[in-house]
Amino acid sequence: MRWELPVGSESAFSPSSPFAASIARLFAITLVVCAVVGAVVVAAIAYSLTRFRAGPGEVEPPQVNGNRKLEIIWTAVPIAIVTGLFVMSIETMSRSDPPADRAPDLVVVGHQWWWEARYASGLVTANEIHVPTGKPLLVRLEAADVIHDFWVPQLARKMDAVPGHPNFFWMSADAPGEYGGACAEYCGTQHAWMRLLVVAQTPAAFDAWQAGQLAPAHAPASAGATRGERVFRNEACGNCHAIAGRGFEGRVAPDLTHLASRSTLGAGVSGDTPGELTAWLHDPQSIKPGCHMPDFKLADAEVDDVATYLEELR
Ligand code: CUA
Repeated sequence: MRWELPVGSESAFSPSSPFAASIARLFAITLVVCAVVGAVVVAAIAYSLTRFRAGPGEVEPPQVNGNRKLEIIWTAVPIAIVTGLFVMSIETMSRSDPPADRAPDLVVVGHQWWWEARYASGLVTANEIHVPTGKPLLVRLEAADVIHDFWVPQLARKMDAVPGHPNFFWMSADAPGEYGGACAEYCGTQHAWMRLLVVAQTPAAFDAWQAGQLAPAHAPASAGATRGERVFRNEACGNCHAIAGRGFEGRVAPDLTHLASRSTLGAGVSGDTPGELTAWLHDPQSIKPGCHMPDFKLADAEVDDVATYLEELR
């Protein structure tokens, strides 16, 4: 099962935040204005083509030079239209992108090819960003390697993630739901599988989610999981991945502390069912070619144990 979201859940035309709504509104107004201008121009051309067609035996039509009234109209009207759109664009820019006026609520880091999310509470997660509804969040956007671009069209403007140059933007969600997003700047071979999911929840549900995610992982509960953690340790998976409370502190790959609570693997390339997790551990390169997770050539039994271990990380 690959990334599946309800139709329209990644559409800039159905905004679910004041920031995105202002952009959608400007787009709609611009589209209507341009459509009317286009229709008037096409109609004028069509009229001229038929009305002033050469008659039988007519070699050259009567020449007309200058018409002050017409010239003033076709200068003034376009200036008024362009000025109006300019003013509305400025207004939309200030609505969709207000200045950053406080410490960020959320730090998002683009990596090849996944998203890291760090909350002010200390919580770190990946590819699935939960947010409380009705609350504008100031996001500080960074990049770990190359330029990425964070785009969740229903919730916020589009913003580049530039290495060494943090950018700030505002994001909010009016209603609970799942909002899809993607990296919108070509960033290498797996750019297309750099998706993300924003899950908007009521503030109470968000607080409960955050409290659960802040809890460290418990010790393995089953024999298989215990063996799996040993494999995880011996293969040095913790050099890249973190599992809070278990001594794994790598920060170059997604945090796995609550991996099993997420709905996808590999930034949307695969679902997160036990079968899909097993397939991923067998050979990540066959599922997401070029990704930075190597194939550790684990034996089948080892893969099963690691999968059992990771499945317990709820
Ligand atoms: Cu990251 Cu495209």
